[in-house]
Amino acid sequence: MNEVLSKLKEIGIVPVVVLDDAADAEPLGKALVEGGLPCAEVTFRTAAAEESIRIMAEKFPDMLVGAGTVLTTEQVDRAVKAGAKFIVSPGLNPEVVKYCIKIGIPVTPGTQTPSEMEQAIALGLDVVKFFPAEPAGGLKMIKAVAAPYVNLTFMPTGGISAENVREYLAYNRILACGGSWMVKNDLIKAGQFDKITEMVKEAAVIVKEIRG
Ligand code: 3PG
Repeated sequence: MNEVLSKLKEIGIVPVVVLDDAADAEPLGKALVEGGLPCAEVTFRTAAAEESIRIMAEKFPDMLVGAGTVLTTEQVDRAVKAGAKFIVSPGLNPEVVKYCIKIGIPVTPGTQTPSEMEQAIALGLDVVKFFPAEPAGGLKMIKAVAAPYVNLTFMPTGGISAENVREYLAYNRILACGGSWMVKNDLIKAGQFDKITEMVKEAAVIVKEIRG
């Protein structure tokens, strides 16, 4: 498996971040590193995404910083230039996936149906995001689709929380779980980075507990 994806597996939980102000990128990165989840999917939903990736990648070289909600090849370029090491999108856009493969950056496109998963396989991928995980059937659905696609591994995201993450992590076809519960936008905006560090620590403990 690709080195970056192996690292994501090792970390186990990918904090999904929406940053309105790039000034929050450094304290947030610090909270993630100190909390034991040295990783972030910084979503391209805000104008601050690109600069936030740049700051996190520069200040925390050991952190695995990726870009989320990537919808265009132009965003892929901006993310990579800023220092993103992986690309995540909510759906499967073949143009974006092919472009990521071409330039050699790992990509996990969102899938939900067997047809979308087959499309990902046909494009040469062996890891897909499963999105939105809980509304789309959760672990039960993943287990059902994992049966025919024996080489596919999943990164469920959407509706995952401290309450249900254990069951996902315990299944051996899960690469990592994405989630925003420990990095909620209101906590970031309120500057509650101590609280975030604490919640990140709790999440990291769950990964250790389940995966050893
Ligand atoms: C998102 O799109 O914001 C991610 O899927 C995170 O979902 P969550 O907020 O339910 O963790």
